[in-house]
Amino acid sequence: EKGGYDHFMMKEMVEQPKAMMEALMGRCCDNGASFTGLKLDAEMMKHINRIQIVACGTAYHAGMVGKYYFEKFARISVETEAASEYRYKNPIVDENTLLIVISQSGETADTLAAIRLAKERGAWVLAVTNVVGSSIAREADDVIYTNAGPEIAVASTKAYVTQVGCMMLLASFLGNLNGKMKKEDAARICHGLMMTPGLIEKALDTQDVIKAFADRNYEIDDLFYMGRGVDLYTSMEGSLKLKEISYIHSEAYAAGELKHGPIALIEDGTIVVAVCTQENVFEKMLSNIKEVKARGAHVLAIVQAGHEDIASEVDEVWVIPEMDDDITAIPTIVYLQLLAYYLAVARGCDVDKPKNLAKSVTVE
Ligand code: F6R
Repeated sequence: EKGGYDHFMMKEMVEQPKAMMEALMGRCCDNGASFTGLKLDAEMMKHINRIQIVACGTAYHAGMVGKYYFEKFARISVETEAASEYRYKNPIVDENTLLIVISQSGETADTLAAIRLAKERGAWVLAVTNVVGSSIAREADDVIYTNAGPEIAVASTKAYVTQVGCMMLLASFLGNLNGKMKKEDAARICHGLMMTPGLIEKALDTQDVIKAFADRNYEIDDLFYMGRGVDLYTSMEGSLKLKEISYIHSEAYAAGELKHGPIALIEDGTIVVAVCTQENVFEKMLSNIKEVKARGAHVLAIVQAGHEDIASEVDEVWVIPEMDDDITAIPTIVYLQLLAYYLAVARGCDVDKPKNLAKSVTVE
């Protein structure tokens, strides 16, 4: 049932190109995304003055990427919040609110409670979920299925990349409805998304390098990630994957925040993964790398092809293929999933069933 792989997590990471294709199928067009069957339309959007994205864990990170692209392309301001926070703080939500929830299982208790609260107050609820007929799918007003296929491993992988893909499509869809997304951006994003299955394939091809890195470093106590812009959310998700399955202490920081405190934790030999896929902040990342290097960090940089010369500034470099900066969130996380996986395996952890974690958190 694991398809010849040692773990469901590996099987599901390998399935990501196909999952991504399924998520994009029939939705990716040159003039913006389209979602068959969605009730939300331009007329309804005229009444929406607030968008909230609510989710937990990995799905929350997809929600952060969503916020980033909704703002960038559709020029819509969005609040992304953890469902467990949202439901207990008397959120500002009314009949002019669009609540987008993201949930792989469609059964997460806090996310479901957020839906009920928002619906009571008249909000329109759009669920992005992987499980057809799940509680969240049934209670929402509108559903977008991520189409990733069943996910068994506790650590979410293929569901995450499809959630991110759906967020980018939704940004494009809403930007089209409100007329704020430029035609050329819509076409570029769709073109970029269509490249992601192949780019994920390329990421999976680098496993030997990632495994070798893990085998050299599996005895570490801490691992830091840093990034700017969308790379921050990829860092947060990479850090969560690592904590979940390897039990290595890890933090992910906005690179510019490090010097406001956390840099104090960097010691001689501390590994810092610097995710540097965004050209507009590349130079800024370089300065942050210098700052942590000055404190003795061992820096692993992830850069797009063309930036190999960063090697003179860091200890290790993983070069990912050159791609549109706006789609890097999808392929880049695959490198970090593999890193978490191989570190966990090297430490002898039960990757598919991490201690104290359940696949779906249906009780509080
Ligand atoms: C991480 C993970 C959890 C879930 C979270 C939400 O790998 O699996 O953080 O992402 O419990 O679950 P869903 O998406 O089912 O609502």
